Amino acid sequence: MPVIKVLGISGSPRKNKSTRFMLEVALESAQATAPEIVETELYSISGKTFHPCDSCHQCEKLGHCRKTDDDFAELRDKWLAADAVIYSVPVYHMGIPSQLKSFIDRVGHSVQEAFNDRSLKVMGFLTSGSGFASGQESVMIFLNSHAVMEGCVPIGGLWPVGYIGVGARVPYPKTMRDWYEANDEHTLEAVEATRELAKQIVLVTTILKSGGEQNRELLKTYGGFELFLQRLDSN
Ligand SMILES: Cc1cc2nc3c(=O)[nH]c(=O)nc-3n(C[C@H](O)[C@H](O)[C@H](O)COP(=O)(O)O)c2cc1C
Repeated sequence: MPVIKVLGISGSPRKNKSTRFMLEVALESAQATAPEIVETELYSISGKTFHPCDSCHQCEKLGHCRKTDDDFAELRDKWLAADAVIYSVPVYHMGIPSQLKSFIDRVGHSVQEAFNDRSLKVMGFLTSGSGFASGQESVMIFLNSHAVMEGCVPIGGLWPVGYIGVGARVPYPKTMRDWYEANDEHTLEAVEATRELAKQIVLVTTILKSGGEQNRELLKTYGGFELFLQRLDSN
């Protein structure tokens, strides 16, 4: 059985609040789904610097982003090596925090192969906002689009809680952990949906990787699966 590397990205500049809580729930569930093959890692953007893409187009010649004076390369390398990526993200003004947007713009642009390559990472999306219908859906739609653009496979949550990810409501100033410990009904549902989403991510990743192993020659013949084949080879 191939190893499944699951990278969790906590997209909040706050260190240890709701975004991270949701992600820890997801990674624990991913690990428990197939303990013998799943390796998880949690990466937090808190305290990290990601300069924005300034459209210099140097990456088209260099094959990598020219900017090296920040934390971009560290996360890009983890992202490239992952079979599955779970993004946990707070809603910021109906969208995602600018640090994470900078990372996505730069990884999307500078990993040239990804444009025409199906890297077949499995992706899932967790988000929290302080209000009702206050941007959770916009965040999840954006991240689903990011997955498709990068040749990845977005996994929806399970009905009736998660359609395109898990969108939690966390009234400020309490955190999701506070609401969970208070047995808040909505939070309990969001946590259950998070566990289920992580489980589905591991199962689909397992199917994809074993299918890839059995069809290497076919994938090589047709091309367009370089990043996926590189990950299969690195196991
Ligand atoms: C700059 C900023 C903008 C925000 N914009 C929204 C918003 O548009 N909709 C929303 O529901 N919550 C918004 N929030 C609240 C956060 O999304 C919410 O508190 C989230 O759970 C924080 O996650 P964290 O505790 O991991 O930092 C905003 C918070 C900040 C700091």
